[in-house]
Amino acid sequence: MTTTFKTVVIAGATGNLGYPIAEAFLNDGSYKIKILRQKPESKNENAELLASKGAEVVYVDYNQKDDLVKALKGTDVIVSALSSKTTGDFYGIQLPLLEAAKESGVKRFIPSEFGGEFTPGKAHPFVDSKFKFREELEKSGMEYTYIFTGVFHEFIEVIGFDAKNKTATFYVDSSSKVHTTSLADIGKYTVESLKLPEARNATIRVAGSTDSFKEILQKFEEVTGSKWKVIEDREVRHRFRNKIEPIPSAMDDVKAFICENGTLSKLDNDKFSFTPSPLAEYINTVKNV
Ligand SMILES: NC(=O)c1ccc[n+]([C@@H]2O[C@H](COP(=O)([O-])OP(=O)(O)OC[C@H]3O[C@@H](n4cnc5c(N)ncnc54)[C@H](OP(=O)(O)O)[C@@H]3O)[C@@H](O)[C@H]2O)c1
Repeated sequence: MTTTFKTVVIAGATGNLGYPIAEAFLNDGSYKIKILRQKPESKNENAELLASKGAEVVYVDYNQKDDLVKALKGTDVIVSALSSKTTGDFYGIQLPLLEAAKESGVKRFIPSEFGGEFTPGKAHPFVDSKFKFREELEKSGMEYTYIFTGVFHEFIEVIGFDAKNKTATFYVDSSSKVHTTSLADIGKYTVESLKLPEARNATIRVAGSTDSFKEILQKFEEVTGSKWKVIEDREVRHRFRNKIEPIPSAMDDVKAFICENGTLSKLDNDKFSFTPSPLAEYINTVKNV
């Protein structure tokens, strides 16, 4: 299946997720790739690497619509891998891009999702702004694809596996499951989604692995050749909400929330041409931490 899309803009391409996505598009070679960077211009190794592989780097002021509209002229698809560490506001950070995209005639917008599958109304405040943005995107009339990937392999620490200190914290029952995917594969899924008719105005759910927390611990113990310290802490969210000592950090509350919602409702892996790498492959690389 071919695609009519020719020019793809990746916003946030210097980041954890944006870089492997941009790299996958450049490796694919079918598209003209532009990466948007926030002004003022600054030196960035990832941007330099992507430029050396053929990406055009364009600096924009995300608060200046004219600037954005100019940068997006001729763009068919926007992939947003934006994230603001300071505000965590995925709505505010992506809205100017959406408004400019609409004005520039962009055909498809892939927003900064790339996580778990959460239920609106029952989600954590940290994902509320993603839901709010989705509503705005669907109203815009542009095509969209939501890509859910579970936890990134490279971010396995977020769900309680601390390889440096050989400690596993179980925020949920250790037999419950979690979906995880490597960043490189997320890049490939994003590229292929453009050629997949089912991805138009739809949600794509993919994962490299489905494991229980217990199985993940076993893999880490095998690879590191040692028994890990295990902390069972299923009360994090309750203590955080009710301010019960020891009061967990907001980050621990987010981690526990992600573990509670670790699985995707179904997987679309079979719609794609490749087999993703399993979590075990990533765990093998951390043995020398
Ligand atoms: N499932 C998981 O395990 C997991 C883990 C981590 C992240 N995620 C998700 O992946 C997505 C991307 O996260 P990330 O960790 O890759 O992001 P990140 O590395 O923190 O940031 C991405 C890029 O956003 C740009 N940026 C930062 N602040 C900005 C601002 N105020 N205005 C405009 N641009 C700004 C920066 O690029 P420039 O400075 O070059 O413009 C930055 O490199 C998010 O949706 C996040 O929730 C999922």
